Amino acid sequence: MAERRYDRELGIKTEGLREWREKPQYNRYEATPYHALDRFSESYKFKNGGRVVDFGCGRGRVSFYLHKNFGIPVVGIEAHDRTYAEALENKSSYRTKAVHIEAPIKFKYGLAEEYVVKPHDTYFYFFNPFSEEIFAKVVNNIMKSLKKHPRVIDLILYYPLPGFKEILESHSFRLINKVKVPRTIDWREKFLIYRHDDFVKNNT
Ligand SMILES: C[S@@+](CC[C@H](N)C(=O)[O-])C[C@H]1O[C@@H](n2cnc3c(N)ncnc32)[C@H](O)[C@@H]1O
Repeated sequence: MAERRYDRELGIKTEGLREWREKPQYNRYEATPYHALDRFSESYKFKNGGRVVDFGCGRGRVSFYLHKNFGIPVVGIEAHDRTYAEALENKSSYRTKAVHIEAPIKFKYGLAEEYVVKPHDTYFYFFNPFSEEIFAKVVNNIMKSLKKHPRVIDLILYYPLPGFKEILESHSFRLINKVKVPRTIDWREKFLIYRHDDFVKNNT
């Protein structure tokens, strides 16, 4: 019920699931629960400027939530055509309510592993969107951008899978925070926030 109320407040429709057919490496659509996002936003501040990239944004819940609550630019990447179309419909209705927020909010149709990371992309959000293999490709793309344009970046994982941790550690990301979701029995319902600032530190 609370989920529907939140959706209504934002002027969007993000409830429900959608499975992929014949794409085992791509995970189904399911939105990050609002109570988890509330807990996350109590403990994390978007301080470095830049933009959030929501890899596998689905119908856009996280993108709208962060845009509304932090006034930060956001881009969501989604590979499922119907789900992407729903994110765009949500954007139209959201924007009639959030007219005062200047920061841009965009959605791109395509594969996360083919997204070219921009120099102003600084926060990367993942709610279990795809396999470890694809995650490794996405992290490689982030690293390429980072080497070319050194900056501090944070990677936010919700419901993290164990293999993701090894991939991040192999690229010298360090865990800076762990945010547990209250009243849950599933230990995976948490946020892990990893930072990469090596290239910036080494330059000073
Ligand atoms: C678990 S949902 C997360 C949705 C949203 N980020 C949230 O937290 O509310 C994962 C999404 O990733 C999308 N996805 C899966 N593989 C993808 C890929 N390779 N590129 C882009 N999107 C992908 C799915 O279609 C699905 O919408």
